[in-house]
This record gives sequence, structure tokens and C-alpha cells, in this order.
Amino acid sequence: MYAKVLLIGGGGREHAIAAALHRSGAKLFAAMRNRNPGIMRLAEKVKIVPENDLNGVCEFATAHQVDFAVCGPEDPLVNGLADALRQQGIPCVGPLQSGARIEGSKLFARELMKNYRIPGCVDYRMVGSLEEAKRAFNEFNGNFVIKPIGLTGGKGVKVMGEHLKNIEDAVGYARDIIEKKIGQSQNLLVEEKIEGEEFTLQAFVNEKSVQFSPLVQDHKRLFEGDTGPNTGGMGSYSCEDFILPFITERDYEMAKEIIFRTVEALNREGINYRGFLYGQFMAARDGVKVIEFNCRLGDPEATNVLTLITSDFTDLCWRIANGESFAQPEFERKATVCKYLVPEGYGIKPLANEEITVNEQGIIASGCVPYYAMVNEENGRIYTTTSRAVAVVSPADTVSLAEKNVENALKHVHGKLFVRHDIGKMELIRKRIEHMKRIRGKETN
Ligand code: AMP
Ligand code: GLY
Repeated sequence: MYAKVLLIGGGGREHAIAAALHRSGAKLFAAMRNRNPGIMRLAEKVKIVPENDLNGVCEFATAHQVDFAVCGPEDPLVNGLADALRQQGIPCVGPLQSGARIEGSKLFARELMKNYRIPGCVDYRMVGSLEEAKRAFNEFNGNFVIKPIGLTGGKGVKVMGEHLKNIEDAVGYARDIIEKKIGQSQNLLVEEKIEGEEFTLQAFVNEKSVQFSPLVQDHKRLFEGDTGPNTGGMGSYSCEDFILPFITERDYEMAKEIIFRTVEALNREGINYRGFLYGQFMAARDGVKVIEFNCRLGDPEATNVLTLITSDFTDLCWRIANGESFAQPEFERKATVCKYLVPEGYGIKPLANEEITVNEQGIIASGCVPYYAMVNEENGRIYTTTSRAVAVVSPADTVSLAEKNVENALKHVHGKLFVRHDIGKMELIRKRIEHMKRIRGKETN
């Protein structure tokens, strides 16, 4: 399909979106704050602009008379980008501000689930003072998670027993949130802590259709063996059967049901959600729980599924944005592994402005696809920022093969970079299967 498409965002997820749009014939116009070499190469025109500068982005869109827009990151949507574009007559893949609250307010998401009796909701308390917080800590018997209400770039959630060592830590963090309004609110959520294995289900959504992409597992912790601070995501994998080895068919069906019911609840609230809906789930002893919803694709999870999509992605996006029905998209029956190369010190004290070199032909010859993330190209050279640099993704017949391909390809990227090598390795996946078996107290299928 031929269409002029505005793409907002300059990370690895957006490079993967750009590649899928380009493959299906879109003429790309890219608005991003960094000079992502992968997107720049695919686009007809680029505007370097902060993604939250709604006027700047809209001006660019109208100047080039784009047919529709695809928004990669959440902040512009939470700030009303889709509303601003719609005022200019430009439909958007990405919900209006009212729908973006599903990610922008963790309280809105939990209340929606509670009010519509959507399965998978966890027990939670909204608290606005230290006294209330302490009471909630007690009610959950010290087994809880603290969440700021609004956006924190994925770094606001703290889990008791992991990031928080004791009740004093928890009280201190609650005080910080209240005093510094972390997450744009002086309220916070205290939730019951769920034990289980996390997985991601990404859906394509509008008021006429809801369709799904293969399940993916992300790795949020910085270091091998799932240790260290949480990050945006160090890498991810998906399996050739589109499910994950520790997930049952029933879990998968339940996750889909939760997404369907959530979209239906949004519709009943008068919110016609048009965009990607990302469900972060936890498979737990008593079924599937929702950790959070995002109003966008995941990063890195977008790289896994968009590397495999064989349907016309431009047509799919056009349909989502215009409220037209669409069929289940097709994906190549392959496994994928994605490993992110990040600047040394990422998540702690990242080394920005360091030159890196990427031998793309070498990566491709290893059976992988390179996606550039938050790097800058200046005069043909590529420099790191404080965020993730390059994603290397392999589609292959099995996760093991994909993982080996990625490891081979990594030697084609040079610079002061760090990688979690354990992602996609059988040893780590086996641990997840064992963990789930212990939690369920029986064999998984
Ligand atoms: P989020 O930013 O909401 O994705 O949360 C970051 C991480 O905190 C998740 O990936 C989980 O590992 C953990 N987490 C969030 N909510 C819970 C919960 N209710 N129980 C256990 N872990 C949680
Ligand atoms: N990979 C986690 C996220 O995109 O939120």
C-alpha cells in the first residue's frame, strides 16, 4: 500500500516500525529528537524535534500532508499528540489522551479493571500520605510493590524484598514520591506483590478489531541472572510456536481475554482506543495477573514481532488509525532473540558521546537484523547517548539458533558497550520453566 506516514520517535522500537512500514511500501516522514541512522536512511524527510513538541510535530505532518501517523513512545500520546494530529485531520496509530491514561495513570488502569471486573487485577491501595502508606504496607503483610501513579520512564516501580530491603526503605521511598511528586502526583499505589514469570502480549486495537502478536519475554534487569537495577529492557526472545515455554495455552487465552475485556471497558467509557496495546503480564500460581498496560509497542518487544510480520504493516496501521476492521496479521513461524548493546555504565552512569562502529553487512551475514536505537549520526560516525544503542535481532527456527546467531553478530559492533549475554540462552530459559513449576507446584504443559 502506498501511503505517506509520519513516524514519531527515534529508538530501536521506532527503527523496527520504520523498517516494517518501509517494507510494505510506506513513504516515511520521521520526527525524532536524535539522529537515528537507520530511520534517517529509510525516511524521505526527517525533522529533528523533541517528540513532546506537539506543535513542531504537527507542523511537520501538515507540511508534508501525511496520510496518518504512527507514534512509537508513550509520552507524546500521554501529552495529547494524537488529539493534536486529529485536529489537523491526521489519524494516528496511538490513542488520544483519554486512552493513553491506560499507561499514563496506573490508578486509571487499576480502577478500570476493578470497575469492569476484568480478571487479572491485583489488590491495590491508592495512598496519599505516609500514614496511609504504612497502613497499606501492614495490610499486605510486608509483601508489596510501590508504584508512582504517572510516567517515570520505567524506573519508578520498587519491589519489596528486591529494590526495597525493609520497611524503612519503603517508607523512605513513599516519602520521596509524596514530597517530590514522582510520577506527577503526590499519591502512589501500593500493590500486592505477585510471584511468577513475566511475559508481554502486544495487541493491535481499534473499536472494530483486536488482534495479537506472538508472546515475548523481556529482560528488565541490567545484569545477567536478572540482577541489578531495572532498565528499559536489555533484550527479549519469542518462540516459534508464538507462546513461551513456561506459559500454558490457558494463560495465553486468559491474557487475550484480559485485553479484549479492557478494550471493551474503554469503549464503554466512550474511549475509542486506536493503537497498540501492550499488556505486561505475570503468570502466577492462580492464573495470569496484569502488571501494567502500555499504550504503545514495547522496546525491545517490538523488534521481535515486527521482524517476523509478513502481512502488510502499512495497511494494518492505516486501518487501526482510521477505525477500519482488520484481520489477524501473519507472522513468520520463527523464534527470535534480541540483545541490546547499551553504553557502558547504562542505567547507572552511562558513557554518552562515545563513537561506536557497526558493520551492518557482517550482522546481516550472521542471520541477524540490526536496529539502531538512541544513537546520533554525525558526519557518517555514530555516537552513543545515555540510552540503549543498537539492538541485534535474529529470527531463526529455534531460540537456541537465534541466540547463537546474535552472539556471532555481536562481534560486528565495536565501542564502549555492554550486553547481557544470557538472554535467550537455554540455561536461563530452563530456570524460568523450573521457577514456574515450583510456583504452580506441578508440571506445566
Ligand atoms: P512496571 O514499570 O509496572 O513494568 O514494573 C516494573 C517491574 O516491577 C515489573 O517488570 C515487575 O517485575 C515488577 N512489578 C510490578 N508490579 C508488580 C507486582 N504487583 N508484583 C510483583 N512485581 C511487580
Ligand atoms: N520493554 C518494556 C517496555 O517497553 O515497557
